Amino acid sequence: MSSQAQPDPPPSDQAQAPALRALVVYESMFGSTQDVAAAVADGLRAEGLVTQLVDVRHAPAPRDAQFDLLVVGAPTHAFSLSRPSTRQDAVRQGAAPELASTGVREWIGEMGSREESRGRAAAAFDTRVTKVRSLPKAASTRASHLLARRGYHLVSRPTPFLVHDVKGPLVAGELEHAVTWAREVAVAARRWHAENRTAAG
Ligand SMILES: Cc1cc2nc3c(=O)[nH]c(=O)nc-3n(C[C@H](O)[C@H](O)[C@H](O)COP(=O)(O)O)c2cc1C
Repeated sequence: MSSQAQPDPPPSDQAQAPALRALVVYESMFGSTQDVAAAVADGLRAEGLVTQLVDVRHAPAPRDAQFDLLVVGAPTHAFSLSRPSTRQDAVRQGAAPELASTGVREWIGEMGSREESRGRAAAAFDTRVTKVRSLPKAASTRASHLLARRGYHLVSRPTPFLVHDVKGPLVAGELEHAVTWAREVAVAARRWHAENRTAAG
């Protein structure tokens, strides 16, 4: 028999909690929200989350997707999430017509029962031109409201990222801000999931 020490037993399930899975769903008419969404995905990955980044036009139906944390991002259109009419307005201003086919509002609208959102955290961001960061009505405030109504646990306040004009560009520093924000969201989601697991025994 070998006198070598036995290897340590594997850590408990609690310590070996599987990595959280994040789904980042965005819409973007001129590219700014897409760039912020990519930076958000980078921030989530930097915190160890298994992260899928997807344009809302190609996003799986919420009921078919596997995730623990949902992050949605959209441009502010008329103080809210876009609608078909505002996306057509963006097309008239030069956006590619195929980008107008659907948006985050419609995607959230496809969500089913509150049961589907059980154990799922969420956060929402938007892009906007206004310098008023705490605009009471914007895409992320609307998205957060809709997600809360469907039973998601919000782990962040609705968060804006600024662009200089309708077609961009993003204000300097906003991509770094997006990475930092996403890392905070990841930490908050992990804490909430850990507390939930403990509470559930
Ligand atoms: C039809 C339309 C309505 C808009 N309404 C608002 C608004 O209410 N408040 C605001 O700050 N920006 C508004 N904007 C500017 C958008 O927020 C900006 O185009 C967007 O942040 C750019 O993101 P994107 O490149 O991902 O499309 C509007 C833009 C369009 C095309």
